[in-house]
Amino acid sequence: MAVAAPPAPADGALPAAAVDELPQHALGVYVHVPWCASRCGYCDFNTYVPPEGALPGLGRRFARAADAELALAARVLRPSTGTRPAVGTVFLGGGTPSLLEPEALGDVLRAIDARLGLAPGAEVTCECNPESVDPARLAALRAAGVTRVSFGMQSARGHVLAALDRRHTAGRAVAAATEARATGFDAVGLDLIFGADGETDEDWRASLDAAIAAGPDSVSAYALTIEPGTRYGALVRRGERRVADDGTLGRRYAIADERLAAAGYAPYELSNWARTPAGICRHNVGYWRGASWWGVGPGAHSHVGGVRWWNVLRPEAWMARLEEGRSPAAGREVLDAEQRHLERLMTGVRLPDGLPATALGEAGHREAAALVEDGLLDAGAWRAGRAVLTPAGRPLADGVLRRIAT
Ligand SMILES: C[S@@+](CC[C@H](N)C(=O)[O-])C[C@H]1O[C@@H](n2cnc3c(N)ncnc32)[C@H](O)[C@@H]1O
Ligand code: SF4
Repeated sequence: MAVAAPPAPADGALPAAAVDELPQHALGVYVHVPWCASRCGYCDFNTYVPPEGALPGLGRRFARAADAELALAARVLRPSTGTRPAVGTVFLGGGTPSLLEPEALGDVLRAIDARLGLAPGAEVTCECNPESVDPARLAALRAAGVTRVSFGMQSARGHVLAALDRRHTAGRAVAAATEARATGFDAVGLDLIFGADGETDEDWRASLDAAIAAGPDSVSAYALTIEPGTRYGALVRRGERRVADDGTLGRRYAIADERLAAAGYAPYELSNWARTPAGICRHNVGYWRGASWWGVGPGAHSHVGGVRWWNVLRPEAWMARLEEGRSPAAGREVLDAEQRHLERLMTGVRLPDGLPATALGEAGHREAAALVEDGLLDAGAWRAGRAVLTPAGRPLADGVLRRIAT
């Protein structure tokens, strides 16, 4: 049960106990860039299509407001014991961060360093849409301090990209990955989606093969979530788009797992595979291991020591609050010990080292032993004191967790 806290205070102050956990964990910064060139029909992220020609000006205002939010973070994140860690990872997400001028993103990165301190060797990821970069823009992103890029490729099949309203071709995504490798980023990632209407197993294999052939350091593969408030969701309700059943999604997941493993990619989370250690997105691993991070930008979520809060959604409201010297937080919740424990189980089970047996209760131990018998948990790992999903168990992770978290 989350304990409801008073609405987030105007000065953004946090309970001292939460801030005092900071020295124990890595600190990340997420930056939400809330603009896209067009809206993909399946996506319900907090993103807006700006008027023609507005982006350079919006980018400058965004960087100024981000600096104000980071100054607030520096005031709030002062542990009474120990030292606040420097920022080890930054994730520029969206929306489409690569739409902003690289100079604006560079200003945001300089502000993170000036306000909170960037650790030496910090990882800085930027999400990119394949059609919004070219070699010159990639070089400018690298020069601005970005170390990893990930491209939303989604599919190698034109009819699947069309069903998702994507504006690029599969060829453009592969070319962008090649250009990024030539630019000298530490890591290049490709994101794929499976389960769109009209996609066959053969289409999915072709998408995986095209992604692998581009030689990225990491690949992510997520099942399409049908979001009720989207155009895609409305078409499903009217019976004009079909939804893949669980059997199809499980089969597609298994195809990805096998094909990526055969090409030398190891899963570092259920939906994320890496070919090299540099391919692993340390920022995302931080989310899954309960790290603290500050989310900058409209609608961005933050977590520090069991307190979660989220910013106002609309870019204008977010910028206006910061311009008036107020916190942009719209609401927050304080997790109790039980809820924090459950969250660690939910994310931990998705990781390759799974969960320590000591985190499970008596009933969970009995269930885990049965799941080993069923081949869904690894027998050797369980003998060594960890509950680790097998390849057969990975597509069924949610059901496995429900049983062992009892
Ligand atoms: C929100 S986007 C941001 C990056 C960039 N704009 C892009 O589209 O690649 C990050 C990833 O989330 C995925 N995504 C968004 N909505 C989704 C949904 N309903 N189901 C599955 N993946 C989704 C996107 O396809 C993309 O790969
Ligand atoms: S999937 Fe990416 S490009 Fe498409 S609307 Fe969502 S954030 Fe924008």
